[in-house]
Amino acid sequence: MPAAGLGTRFLPATKTVPKELLPVVDTPGIELIAAEAAELGATRLAIITAPNKAGVLAHFERSSELEETLMERGKTDQVEIIRRAADLIKAVPVTQDKPLGLGHAVGLAESVLDDDEDVVAVMLPDDLVLPTGVMERMAQVRAEFGGSVLCAVEVSEADVSKYGIFEIEADTKDSDVKKVKGMVEKPAIEDAPSRLAATGRYLLDRKIFDALRRITPGAGGELQLTDAIDLLIDEGHPVHIVIHQGKRHDLGNPGGYIPACVDFGLSHPVYGAQLKDAIKQILAEHEAAERIADDSQVK
Ligand code: UTP
Repeated sequence: MPAAGLGTRFLPATKTVPKELLPVVDTPGIELIAAEAAELGATRLAIITAPNKAGVLAHFERSSELEETLMERGKTDQVEIIRRAADLIKAVPVTQDKPLGLGHAVGLAESVLDDDEDVVAVMLPDDLVLPTGVMERMAQVRAEFGGSVLCAVEVSEADVSKYGIFEIEADTKDSDVKKVKGMVEKPAIEDAPSRLAATGRYLLDRKIFDALRRITPGAGGELQLTDAIDLLIDEGHPVHIVIHQGKRHDLGNPGGYIPACVDFGLSHPVYGAQLKDAIKQILAEHEAAERIADDSQVK
């Protein structure tokens, strides 16, 4: 799980608070995604962090002082809540000294893989792909076709320039699995080969590490994971996508994070009903203000 980026789209919050710890209602995004990994059967989670983002790893450690204080105050429910991240999965720290790109961050995970591990799951902590479980489907696809498997969602034309976009092989099969011919990072609408965008779920063959050593800095001067995958495709490595039909929330920028909080908030047993009323009221107030502004323009 790469979590060493600068989070520039979330400044000023990310000046001191790691983007991965921003809460969706009350739980940091990275904990939600660690839970997804644990649910899939993962027992070890390499978290790639930066020296100034110590809070990310601390979130996966037990906090005995806070636990004791809560126990003394009889708040046993909250003790459970703060233990959850540490109990979910064993976090293995990996440090990325400089934010040289997602590709560079993923490359560092090779040092903590066992010799017999021939595939690595990369899950971005700022990307919620719901309902969880798409990686299970991706593992089935790797078992069938070998190589590497990624997850795609269909985005609107207006959004293609925000994501890595897949070029897929033409076929007539009505299937959620497609073979990938190439990938383009954040294309202009007219250059986009499809509307299928990469999400933050990757099942990568170990060959990715060799490809990552051979690429040079790409978009934004960073080592791009997309470029290494593209290199593997050029060399004949099979890459497939699973087209996910569910929801996806991009927590990496306020425009995606706010809807995620509303979505999770509305389903929350404690806050849901109250939030629904609050949203209705806020919308009504905004609409009334817009009507007044429109009327005064007409006059
Ligand atoms: P993003 O591009 O979404 O994160 O990378 P960022 O670079 O932090 O964000 P902006 O663009 O400046 O707003 C996806 C994931 O990869 C990690 C990020 O922490 C994020 O979880 N990442 C990115 C690294 O670990 N190292 C890097 O050098 C870059």
